[in-house]
Amino acid sequence: MSLAEARRLLAAARSVAALTGAGVSAESGLATFRGSEGLWRRHRPEDLATPEAFARDPRLVWAWYEERRRAAAAARPNPAHEALAALENRFPEFTLITQNVDGLHARAGSRRVLEIHGCLWRTRCCSCGEVREDRRVPLPALPPRCACEGLLRPDVVWFGEPLPFELLSGAFRAVDACDVLIVAGTSGAVQPAGSMGRRALARGAAVIEVNLERTPLSGEATVFLEGRAGEILPALARGA
Ligand code: OAD
Repeated sequence: MSLAEARRLLAAARSVAALTGAGVSAESGLATFRGSEGLWRRHRPEDLATPEAFARDPRLVWAWYEERRRAAAAARPNPAHEALAALENRFPEFTLITQNVDGLHARAGSRRVLEIHGCLWRTRCCSCGEVREDRRVPLPALPPRCACEGLLRPDVVWFGEPLPFELLSGAFRAVDACDVLIVAGTSGAVQPAGSMGRRALARGAAVIEVNLERTPLSGEATVFLEGRAGEILPALARGA
């Protein structure tokens, strides 16, 4: 029984890392990127999530982020987020690496969260570089401006941009130190997060994958648990 095996792996672990993707927020009502209802079905990444798109039409890009901020503000953490927050308290070392920008892990109570794709609730000035938290929904004007008059952008990572070095090295340190890596709700289609499962396996760590459907990692994962993150992660946390 693979849930039992996954629980056994966790029970024996000292250092645990978890990598999450949009599937973990799906049960909070937020759209994933790929799949039949995915955001990338309705929008082309190069139209909205690239520095070139922003340079071309900052208002259009902001309108899309405004919509996502509105949805994320209205959403609530679901049992998958809560289970990961509960797991953090059980292990001497626990690092949560997320590709999600919605802030729901922190709202569920997770403390050590590495948001490697950035955060919807911060802006960054294209002129002076200042990063600020801004949770206003809606924003007073699009595109928003910095006190220095520079154009503000969402503090997220776009296609073609490098990931923040500190966060990425922290994420790899956790993947390289863990006994168990939980990979939940991610298609693994975007690098470098997509390679973290195999990297952990290569050095002998166990990988527990949780997904509604099989991904390229599933055949190699130590345990693949097929189903909803909001059901499986709480079941896993109960047994850990
Ligand atoms: P994707 O949309 O690519 O994948 C979501 C995954 O979650 C799929 O494998 C689904 O099968 C799975 N899933 C959906 N609902 C689920 C549920 N209730 N329980 C468990 N699994 C579920 O999202 P990500 O892998 O997060 O990057 O995408 C990675 C990156 O691609 C995003 O961070 C974003 C996007 O382009 C940037 O914008 C830089």
